[in-house]
This record gives sequence, C-alpha cells and structure tokens, in this order.
Amino acid sequence: MKKIFSLLVLAIFALAAHAEDYVISTKNTTMVLSGKKGERLNFVYYGPTIPVNEIRATGNAVNWGAYPTFGTHCTAEHAMLVTHPSGDNSLELAIEEVKQYKENEAEVTEFVMKDKVFPFYVSILYKAIPDVDVIKVSTVITNKEKKAVTLNRFASAYLPMKSNELWLSYLVGGWGAECQLVEEPIHRGRRVIGNHDGARTSFVTNPSFMVSRGEPNEHCGFVVGGTLLWTGNYELSFLNESNSNYLEIVAGINPEASAYTLEPKESFTTPELVLTCSTEGKGGVSRNFHRWGRKYQIIGGTQERDILLNSWEGVYFRVNQEGMDQMMKEFSAIGGELFVMDDGWFGDKYPRDNGETSLGDWMVCKKKLPQGVEGLIESSKKFGIKFGIWIEPEMTNSKSELYEKHPDWILRQEEREPVMGRGGTQLMLDMTNPEVQDHVFKVVDDLMVANPDIYYMKWDANFSIANAASLYLPKKKQSHLYIEYHRGLIKTLERIRAKYPNLVIQLCASGGGRLNYAFFPYFNECWTSDNTDAIQRLFIQWGVSQYYPSNVMAAHVSASPNHQTKRVTPLKFRFDVAMTGRLGMEMKPSDLTDKEKEFAKNAIATYKNIRPVIQQGDLYRLISPYEKKPYVSVMYVTPEKDRAVYFLYRTQYVRSYPAEVRVLKGLDPNKNYKFTELNPENPKKKGSLDGKVISGKTLMTQGFYLNIEKELGSAVYELVAQ
Ligand code: GLA
Repeated sequence: MKKIFSLLVLAIFALAAHAEDYVISTKNTTMVLSGKKGERLNFVYYGPTIPVNEIRATGNAVNWGAYPTFGTHCTAEHAMLVTHPSGDNSLELAIEEVKQYKENEAEVTEFVMKDKVFPFYVSILYKAIPDVDVIKVSTVITNKEKKAVTLNRFASAYLPMKSNELWLSYLVGGWGAECQLVEEPIHRGRRVIGNHDGARTSFVTNPSFMVSRGEPNEHCGFVVGGTLLWTGNYELSFLNESNSNYLEIVAGINPEASAYTLEPKESFTTPELVLTCSTEGKGGVSRNFHRWGRKYQIIGGTQERDILLNSWEGVYFRVNQEGMDQMMKEFSAIGGELFVMDDGWFGDKYPRDNGETSLGDWMVCKKKLPQGVEGLIESSKKFGIKFGIWIEPEMTNSKSELYEKHPDWILRQEEREPVMGRGGTQLMLDMTNPEVQDHVFKVVDDLMVANPDIYYMKWDANFSIANAASLYLPKKKQSHLYIEYHRGLIKTLERIRAKYPNLVIQLCASGGGRLNYAFFPYFNECWTSDNTDAIQRLFIQWGVSQYYPSNVMAAHVSASPNHQTKRVTPLKFRFDVAMTGRLGMEMKPSDLTDKEKEFAKNAIATYKNIRPVIQQGDLYRLISPYEKKPYVSVMYVTPEKDRAVYFLYRTQYVRSYPAEVRVLKGLDPNKNYKFTELNPENPKKKGSLDGKVISGKTLMTQGFYLNIEKELGSAVYELVAQ
C-alpha cells in the first residue's frame, strides 16, 4: 500500500556553533545523537528514558560516529562504501541541516549530511513511534555528482553499543526447522547473519536480532531488538573489535553481488531497521514488536483471524471436487470458518499432479474440477464457510504453457542452461521485467474478477534466485538484480493491495521461508513451517514469537503419526500447541474418529472464545523448550489484564521429576482470577485448578504447583478477573 505521507510540522533547526543534543523519544525509551553543522554526527545513547545529563554523568554515553564511512574511517567498521566517478572511494559526511517533522504515526528526525568534498548526500532518518517504543532507522542516498556513483556498501543503520558482556540472540534453521533460537555471548571479532537465497529471505536465518546486556533473560534485563524491513538478501553484522569495547551493529541490504550504480540526481532509499529496547528482558522486546506489528505494520493486524482447514497434508496433489466438498462439509460441521484448497488444482495442457509441471498455468484443471472454482465456491456457500486458494505466482516450470510462450521471462544467464529447482523443472520468473509484474498481478486479478467471493489466498514461493541474472536488466546493471527483483515484487503487491485491500493473503515460502516484517503490509499471516509436528512446533513457534505476534503465526493441527516426523501425539496435545497461534487444521477431518471429532469441535468453539486473548494479547514466555526441561509453557494476557490463557506442555516424562512451582507473569496483582480448564480430555474430570479463584499477587509471587503425569500431556487454563 502506498503510504500517504502527512507532513504536519516541519521544523528546521538552526544549527548552533556548539554541538547540540538531539533527543528522540518514545514512551519508555530514548535515543540521543549530537552534532553541529559542518561536523560529523555522533551517536550518544539508546536505552530506557533517563535524564540526558545522567547519561553522560554515568559514563553511559557512547560518543562514536553515528554512520561511519569508508575512506576517512578505514580502521574501524563502516556503514557505507562508495566509488565516485573519479575512482575515489572515500566519504566524510558532515551535517548540513536537521529537520524534525511528523509522518503518519512517526515523529521523524532527519539528519541531512553531505560529503566534505563531493556533492554526495546521505540523510539518516530516525522515525520514532512513541506509543509502541519503536524507532525505525534508514538512509536516503542522493548523488548530485556529474556522473554515476557506485554504492558498494549502503547500510540502513549503524548502532554502536557499550559494554563487554553482551549476548546475541537470533533465529536460524532450514526447511521444516525454521526459527530455531540461538543465543551466544558476543566474543571479539565479527559475527554476520546474512541471507543469500534471493527470494526466501528467512529460509535459513531471520533478519532480526536481540542483544542483551548479560545472559539473556525472558523477564528482566536490558535488551535491544532489531528487525530489518527488506524482503531480499540482507546482512546484519556485529563487530566487536574496537579498543573501547563497543559493539558495532550494521544492518542493511546484503551488499554481496549487489553493487548499485546511482545515476546523477538519483536517490536510493535503504530499507528501515526497526529498533526497540526494553528493561523487561527479551519478553519486553517481543511484546513491543508484537504491539508495533499488529498496530502499524501487518495488514489487518488488529482483526480476528479465521480458523481454517488447508487441504495440503490431507490430499496433497490429489485434488478433486468430491474430495474438496467432503473436507468443506466435515470442517464446517466441527465449526471451521474457512477452507483453503492448496496445490494441485490447476493446469490444463499439463495438469498439476506433482511438483514437476504447470506453475504459471493458473487455469483450473477441468479433469479434476469440472465445475471450476465457481463450483467450489458454491459448495463453500452451501456449507457456510469461506473459500481460499493456493498460488505460486512468481514461478513457472519448464513443463508449462507459460514457459512455452515466454521462455525469456525466467531468471537465467544467457549463455548457460538454467539451474532448476523443485521437481527438477521449477524456474523463477523475472520480477524486474514489467511484463512479468503484469502477469503476476493478473494471476490474482483474473482469479478475483472471475470469483469475487475468494476470501483468502496462500501465496507460495518454493525456489530461490538460483540463476542470478536477468534477461531484462541491461548488462551493466546485472548487479541490481537482487534489489530490482524485490522492487518489482513490492510494486506488484502494492497494485494487488490497492485493488484488493480486504483479500486475506498468507505468506508462504517452502513453509516459513519468507517470515519477514517487510512483507506484512501485504500479507495478513505467514505459514510458519511445513513441519506440523507438535513437539517441533514448540521450538519453531517459540522462535517465531521472539519477533512476530501470534495472529500471523499459522499453526495447524495435522494427522498422527505426523507426516514429517512420524511422531504419534494425542489430538489434545496437537490442538493445545496450535491454539497458541492462528489455529487451523491440515488433514482430512474424515480421518478423525467420532470421539476425536467431538474433541475438535469443542476445541474450535473454545478457540473462538479465547481468540481475542491469543491473537491480540501480550505474550509471556514461561518455560523455554530450549532449556531442555520436561515442560514448556507460555501465557497470553489482555492489555486490560482482565483475561489470560495459560498453556503447559509435558514434552518428556522423567520419573521422580520434582514437583515444580508455576509462577505467572503479566497479571494485575490486585485482581482475583478464576481458573477454568480448557480442552479437558474428560470434561467430567477437570484439573485441580478448575473453578479456583486466586489473586494475581499470589500467582505472580508464590505461584501454584501443577504437574502433568504423562508424556505429551498438556493443560490449558483460562483466567478471568472477577
Ligand atoms: C510448499 C508449502 C506447502 C504446500 C506446498 C504445495 O511446500 O510450504 O504448505 O503449499 O508447497 O506444493
């Protein structure tokens, strides 16, 4: 969506002869920069709000360049390296002016800087969003030289941090094991978290980090968190080499194979790094990201999400009208709200029976679905549920009508055979090409024009930019590919959103390969992982929740034994795990026994009731799966602290494991909460806490004793303030 910039107040500071402090504030945090006209901008402080004079009096001031550049600062870290037309590689930025103004929800402080020699400008923008304690940092680079300047390194943000006892937390993984949490002390040297996939920006690592002072803790201690708003390759670098023990964080587009030719008069805007910090540990940082995300970044972020059934693990490619009807009917009977037909529904000349053909041929396979999408929508109406459909519009297969017609639309080197992906035939379309952008827009538009009742789309992307060349871009601008691909994609998504603001779209890339806030102005939620095993999901969802709120975290109950891990888990355990995110199912409901159907029906009704608490509440992570204890636990609390939902899972049964006290978080000490057990296995035999009323003070200080006496057992309680 095009953001409409409202320029409310524009104040240009008369820069004094002496250095002046610029204080950027949110509700609970402060950032301080200082400088004067003609000199470098200094970074002073980022942390909880304390008096500025005390920042200096206590030695908390950093006093380090706010955006170091190569050539005049060669011995340390640099955020920017450019080559001027003369071949000169240096930059020395000095403040020209400082502007402060409002732009939508943000209070912007913009430092306009110019090189001391060349007419080359860099503005650093700090956009504070006060109510959610977020500051977004980006740069705008403008070439006023006579010839092109090459941008070799062009970071969005640079952040120096003081202290020599910092820890880094980040997410790393792979297919079926996304967002595994890694935490380690920051030693001397450089640590780089980067992405090279081209398309699936979080396929291995996620563009987010937390830096804690001291060993990371969920509930206390000072933590800074960052997440980069870029859908393409990125680099987050943490250099701990300076004599003064500063950690230097640099975040931005991955400069590898991405040198950018900035033409005269052209400006380049880098993506924003979203920063937040908290003295309430990692949990505080996560809650800040969740609040900001829901309120300002995720499309429909404050709207309730439907409970859906996705056809993939139920039937895979074996799609047909009868099977789809059957799933819709049965899902509707247990209270489901939305049915999504996954892969396998399209391809005329080449029916999509496996992963080897048909991407690009977005017409219904009449052999499988003789009544077309219309017939499916009619059925969904008959069964009283909404309808959604799977697409993978940025892709094609070498065996497809699209590729036969447009062989020049794929990414490939002219002189080499293209490397192919899934099925040995998958290819990526060249989103830098406006004709391809039109095609991708039309994939959505044609479906929507023909079937305006489509409520939901799952947008997949199962390949990477493996062939890093464009037949569309000029030869001398091939190094722009990784950037221009995403500019083309975003432009297309903007067009789609301008026409279809209410369509619910799921972001998917071989599972959670695109989990990234830069996508969320266009996508309502994300497919978290192709791994639906409930135990594995505890790890994945714990990782996701570090940065992303539960309402974007699609969590589906699937069959047992699980298709990815072969593990057998009780249906209750699977529901109790999926209910901490956006609940859905991914199986044939007909595979459930009558008793299980009854359980599922009750669990779905229960989720509808607690949905506002889960999807909009504050998350408190209590026992981490990464601690390797036999328990895992989380809870959600409404902002008013009048309702909460508590989850406890027993992941291993160890004999004689001592009774453990459960201390809750985030409640109101002055309120009394009534416990109701949810999803009981036997509704006639509820857990020991059911019906009890206990004060928030007791729950948050002494806690209560609750054990689960079997492996893969779980307990869920709703707490309602009396
Ligand atoms: C990807 C997705 C799955 C499913 C398949 C369909 O792997 O992650 O959820 O949609 O593609 O081919």
